[in-house]
Amino acid sequence: MNPSERLDEQLDAAIALLRRAEHAVAVTGAGISAESGIPTFRESGGFWEKYPPEQYATYSAFLKNPKKIWSMWRERSAMLRDSEPNAGHYALAQLEEAGRLEAVITQNVDNLHQDAGSKRVVEFHGNARWMRCKGCGHAEPITEEALERIPPKCSCGAIMKPDVVMFEEWISDDALAEASSLANRCDAMLVIGTSAQVYPAASLPRTAKHNGASIIEVNIEPTGFTDTLTDVHLQGAAGEVLPRIAARLTGENGT
Ligand code: APR
Repeated sequence: MNPSERLDEQLDAAIALLRRAEHAVAVTGAGISAESGIPTFRESGGFWEKYPPEQYATYSAFLKNPKKIWSMWRERSAMLRDSEPNAGHYALAQLEEAGRLEAVITQNVDNLHQDAGSKRVVEFHGNARWMRCKGCGHAEPITEEALERIPPKCSCGAIMKPDVVMFEEWISDDALAEASSLANRCDAMLVIGTSAQVYPAASLPRTAKHNGASIIEVNIEPTGFTDTLTDVHLQGAAGEVLPRIAARLTGENGT
């Protein structure tokens, strides 16, 4: 069987599971935004090769040298500002619209699920379109003007921080509570474009599986979940696989 025939066969299996599901949720990682031109983190040539996370993505690194961390975020936020959702993002929004997907829990901070029309999005690692004052909590959008001088300062005088969860920081209570509730309640979970190496996000599919949910993985490569947790691995690009799922499920509803 060639890869395309195998994918067709796995798609049939995934559709059967999703058709039966009453509480399907999606967990997404950087891979779903790769086709929007945003580099993933851990693949070869990934973002962390240029900006090692221990130097650029920990809270202690930010406190030590906010200017250095903001110079990376100035580059990244410009990239994110110019990015557009791709067919994978739109397919998830279509599934939600058709009542086939309850929510997207995303590790991404690029806002592309919302831009594609997804209504219920749990931002597990925050949103890089915003910055927040560590002093008074004031938040405002990150604009090119706001980053002319870095680090940007709040009117209260304190330094602003990108509104994302850095390593050494906690996931927000609200995001953790909502994501955990969704993972506990779902009967099918689409795990899309994540290397499943970062916790607590990577514990969500384990929770779902433990509660009897079917795990459907969409990834161009196998991951640590594929042979242990995953029921169906759709080996392909999210921007190609997800629209095929959406067409089969929503088309069936006559919507
Ligand atoms: N379609 C589907 N999967 C893809 C695609 C694609 N077009 N392109 C890449 N992938 C897969 C890769 O095979 C890999 O498994 O996406 C995954 C990306 O993995 P990472 O770069 O590790 O990204 P992610 O899993 O989202 O990282 C999690 O780590 O550094 C932190 O905060 C950061 O949210 C991030 C978290």
